[in-house]
Parts: sequence; C-alpha cells; structure tokens
Amino acid sequence: MISPNSIEQIKSRIDIIDVIGEYVKLKKRGANYLGNCPFHNEKTPSFTVSPTKEIYKCFGCGKSGNTITFLMEHDKLSYVESLKWLAKRYNLEIEETEQSPEQQYVQQTSDSLYIINNFAQQFFQKKLWESEEGETIALSYLKDRGFNNEILNKFQVGYNPSSKNELSQALISNQFNKDLFPKTGLSILRNEEDWQDNYRGRIIFPIHQNTGKIIGFGARIIGKNDKAPKYINTPENEIYVKSKVLYGAYFAKHSIDKNDECLLVEGYTDVISLHQAGIENVVASGGTSLTTDQLRLIKKYSNNLTIIYDGDAAGIKAALRGLDMALEESLNVKLVLIPDGEDPDSFVRKIGAAAFEKFITENKKDFIIFQLQVMMDGVGNDIAKKNEVVNQIAESLSKINKVEDFIKQQEYIKQCSAILQIDEIGLINLVNKFKRDKISKDEKIIPFNEANAILQQSSNSSNTKQTEINLFEIDDLHEKNLLKILLEYGLKPWNEELTIAEHIFEELVNFEFENKQLEKIFEMYKSQFQNKEEPDTKKFIYNEDKQIADLVVSITMTPYELSNNWDNVLEGMNILNRDTSIQDVAMSLNYFKLKKIKKMFLQNQSDIEKATSFEEQKQLIEVHKNLKQIEIEITKQLGTVILK
Ligand code: UTP
Ligand code: MN
Repeated sequence: MISPNSIEQIKSRIDIIDVIGEYVKLKKRGANYLGNCPFHNEKTPSFTVSPTKEIYKCFGCGKSGNTITFLMEHDKLSYVESLKWLAKRYNLEIEETEQSPEQQYVQQTSDSLYIINNFAQQFFQKKLWESEEGETIALSYLKDRGFNNEILNKFQVGYNPSSKNELSQALISNQFNKDLFPKTGLSILRNEEDWQDNYRGRIIFPIHQNTGKIIGFGARIIGKNDKAPKYINTPENEIYVKSKVLYGAYFAKHSIDKNDECLLVEGYTDVISLHQAGIENVVASGGTSLTTDQLRLIKKYSNNLTIIYDGDAAGIKAALRGLDMALEESLNVKLVLIPDGEDPDSFVRKIGAAAFEKFITENKKDFIIFQLQVMMDGVGNDIAKKNEVVNQIAESLSKINKVEDFIKQQEYIKQCSAILQIDEIGLINLVNKFKRDKISKDEKIIPFNEANAILQQSSNSSNTKQTEINLFEIDDLHEKNLLKILLEYGLKPWNEELTIAEHIFEELVNFEFENKQLEKIFEMYKSQFQNKEEPDTKKFIYNEDKQIADLVVSITMTPYELSNNWDNVLEGMNILNRDTSIQDVAMSLNYFKLKKIKKMFLQNQSDIEKATSFEEQKQLIEVHKNLKQIEIEITKQLGTVILK
C-alpha cells in the first residue's frame, strides 16, 4: 500500500498539462488547453484541459476526469499503477505503509502463488510439446479439434501427464512451499506426504490476469468421461477470485478497445477458437452468469457488450440472469443466439470467420427487447401474466439511471410499450414508481389493480411533454448551478460575518436537492466546511466514488458561463456586466428556491384535490397562500415575473 502521505505528495506534484501533453497535442485557448480527444476520433478538437482545476473533459465524447483517471483510462492502469507512474515521472520516493501481519501474509502468499503458477505453466507447456504422452494424447486431440500451433502457444496451453505425481515431484524438488500446494489446486495430499497431481491427464488452459501473470488454470479432461468433471478449475485463493475473472481479457483488451465492443462467450475453447479465426475482442465468463466486477472490467474497455450464447433454453436463461446489473452500469447489451447444438467454437469452424462475423452483426438483438420478446412468448391472453411482464420490464428499465442514458431509456420505453401494446406514459409512470421505491420484483410485484390504475390514469393525461419531464426529474440544472456556485465561491465573503457557503447553508435549511448525488456532494461540502477542512474542488475530483468525481467535473466544466445561462432562463432581465459572485449566488439561490416552490405548488394542488374534509382543505389553502407569498418575494428579488 502506498502511504497517504505519498499519495498526497504525488497529487500535489501533478501537472495535468504535462501528463496529458504526453499523449495529446495541446494548444492554449483562454484559461484552458485544447486538443484532439484521445478517446474518440475527431477532426476539430473538443478535448479541453483545465490546468487550474486539474481536470479534462471532452465535449465530443463526454469523457472527463483528473490526471489519475486519465492514466487509468488511457493506459488501462490501475489506481496504484497510475500513482506509481506519476511518482516515477516526478522522481518521488514512494513510501509504503506498514503492513499488518495479515496484509503481509496475503502479499507473500500472492507472490508465491504467482511464482508457482508460472513454474507449473512452463512445466505443462513443455509436457504438451516435448513429451511423447503429451504429443500423442493431448496435442493430437487439440490438433484434431482444429487448433493450430500458433494459437496454442499464444494461449500457453499445456498438458498435465497422467502419471501420479510428475508435477508434484517437480514442485517439491524445486523447493516450493508445500503448505501452499492445496491453495494452488495443482497438487493434493492423498496420504500423509503423498502429494499427487490434481489435473492428471488433462489439458491445461492457463488463466491470465490483466497484466499477463497467471492466476489459475482450467483443466479439461481429454475426450468424454461421464464419471469425472469435464473441467477442474483453480480453487479460490489470494489471487484467483472467480467473480473477478474473465478468461481471455488479457489477450482481448486492445481488440475490444479498437472495436469498441466486447464479445462474451461461455468457454475457454470458444475464446481460443475465435482468436484463431481472427476475432480477438472476446472473453469468456466460465459458464456462469456475469458479476458486477466482471461487467466493470468490460466497461474499462468498452460500453458495448455482445453476449453470444447457445440457443438452448438454459443458455438463454443464463444470459438473461443478472443483466439488469449491466443496465445499471450503463452498458449497451446485445444478445446473439447461435443455432441450437452449436457453440461459438464449433460454429466458427463450421461457417468460417467472415460468415460468423456477419451472423453476429445480423442477429444481434437488444437485450431489453429480446428479454421482452422471450417473456411475451409465454403470455397469450393471460392478463395476470402480462401484468407480470409489464412489471418486470418496468423494473429492468428503472435500472437505467444515469442522466446521460435518459434518451436511451425513453427510446426503450417507446419500443417496449409498442410491443406490450400499452400506453407509453403508463409505462413511464411504472418505471418511475420502481425507480422511486427501488422495489425489486422478488420483494413486491405491484398489484394488478394498482398497476392498472397507473396505466389508466396516465392515458387520460393531456399534457404529455410536461409529465415526462417532471417524471424523469432531469430538470436539475438549477441544482447543478447552485452547487457550481458553492464550489466556486463558497469560501468568499457574503457579508462581513458570513462566507458565501454559510449563507447558502442558512438559506437551504428547508430545502433539499432532489438529485441524490448532488445532495451527497452538497452534504460532503458542508461537513468538510464544518470540520474546518476548507472544502476543495480537488477533493471531490479525486473522490474514490467515480460518479461523484465525474459529476463535479461536469459541473465545474460547464461549457457556458453562468451569466449567459441566466439570460436565457430569466426572460427580460438585463444582467450584463455582472462580475460579482454575490449576484450569482443570490440568483442561483432564488432560482433554486423558486423551482422547489413550483414543485410544492403542484404537490399542494393535488393534496387539495384529494382532501377529504373541509378543515383539511382550508389548511392546505393556507399553505398555498404562504407559498404564493414566498414566490412573489423571490420573483421580486429576481426582478422578473415570468418564469415557467
Ligand atoms: P462447456 O461445456 O461449453 O465447455 O463449458 P467448452 O469450453 O465449450 O469446452 P469444449 O469445447 O467442450 O472443450 C463452458 C465453460 O464452463 C466452464 C468452463 O469455463 C467452460 O469453458 N465449465 C464447464 C466448468 O468450469 N466446469 C465444467 O465441468 C464444465
Ligand atoms: Mn465447446
């Protein structure tokens, strides 16, 4: 572990222009630097770097972040690797924190496991190519299946001889620590002191980590045998964590990057076969459903995931399971089912690489639409079943959460409501209900009556556009503006007593941000301020939570100046030549409050309609009057009466 002190030192030395300038030709433009974005192809530069804020943002593709995330994204380094890269560049000594005994154990064990795996891999590979048994039994089998020398070498395929303990003996005579043998899964203790090979007579597929080191093995039986498992895999240990592994990622990463698409198959042999056919942007899940960690790994390289599965029912089920997670991760998921009885390995051999690629392109189906069609197949005229499908799709759609995915979500809603033959606004409402309640389909299915009521109610709705906007609650520009003001001017004085931050805190006592992420940033700012830590945009930009960091970057890098924005929002106001932060603060606050009050009006209105007693109604009308009063006051301060 790098010590916090070292991390601070590195961060304080970072010169973003210098680092990014390594990769991108930058030209000064005003306070910022501009260049061609390294993350997408462009002819006119829209990649902006701010040396003072230490952030970059591309207004073409939207990628943004700080120096460290740049290195992570561009060079696919880990956080720690990026820090080490920077330390090296600036000639800084890295101080490692004292490790606890447990950490030391993990570190040492990991190091040893890598070394043993490396030794074993070389042993296996040698046995495949240079022993008679390997050649006649294993190599011939692999050749029969159509694998060529080059591809077998690339994937470092090997063979574990069938005798009792050839590998075990080699490990022992090379002085490896026997205590670790069980962890490696390579050798097991039969009787006391009788170490035997675990993968006897099996073909060995080494599993590589992102950097190329070997973390484990998949060992396949030769031919068919109903008594023994087809594959034996490395047990979970300090370096092999199944849920984080994607077989082939090490060999696929550049191709995934280049194609901006990751193909996902089930098996080791599928990956290798496709590579041999020249299709290299492919990884395997190992036959289980995807985990969030695996999805994140894919996301490092591309947002486009295409899952290639057997056309049998089990394959389809496995593919659909857990894919809501992919939506949460903002991945675009497509599915391709290959004909029953084939797997990608057999299929590509049968029809050839070009036809395979054509098949993929032509049969790619959107995951959500596909899921819906599969579910609708079993529905017929059964209303209860249809209701269940509507609920399930609404829940899946509610997982699309990111602001930038808004259009995508709307597009889905349009398509799904057409397939379901239900009202579009109704589906929107249902999606939002799931969003608000975060209820999962396992816990609660919205009762038929209620779902139906929601569908009904909205088909009567006259003002479609208005409803949509309110429902999606994307109208958080005013919240972002206020936060921007806070981040930019917070520490400046408001008056003789208060800083601008303190003034904003006071004014917002009765209000809150609706966008929960923004609320979180606001609260973080507040607590830093109250702990006398001098809230610093940088702290947010380097926040571990990438969503927070990204949001702050996008807020502080708003391409237009606030004042122009106001000119558009507040009709009839002349606010040119403003240069004081005070005015910005006051405007932002008022606008923020006004928006909230508008919402309260709507709520109040609907409460009045629903009121069951005269007394209640009277009270609510009082609330209405108060709100009106506040509104008048604020609009007066804003100097405008027109605000929709
Ligand atoms: P498959 O049975 O499709 O195997 O399992 P495969 O990779 O296509 O192998 P061949 O082509 O028959 O030789 C898909 C994946 O599921 C995991 C392995 O990762 C395998 O690649 N699996 C399968 C196991 O871990 N254990 C098993 O017993 C079977
Ligand atoms: Mn297969």
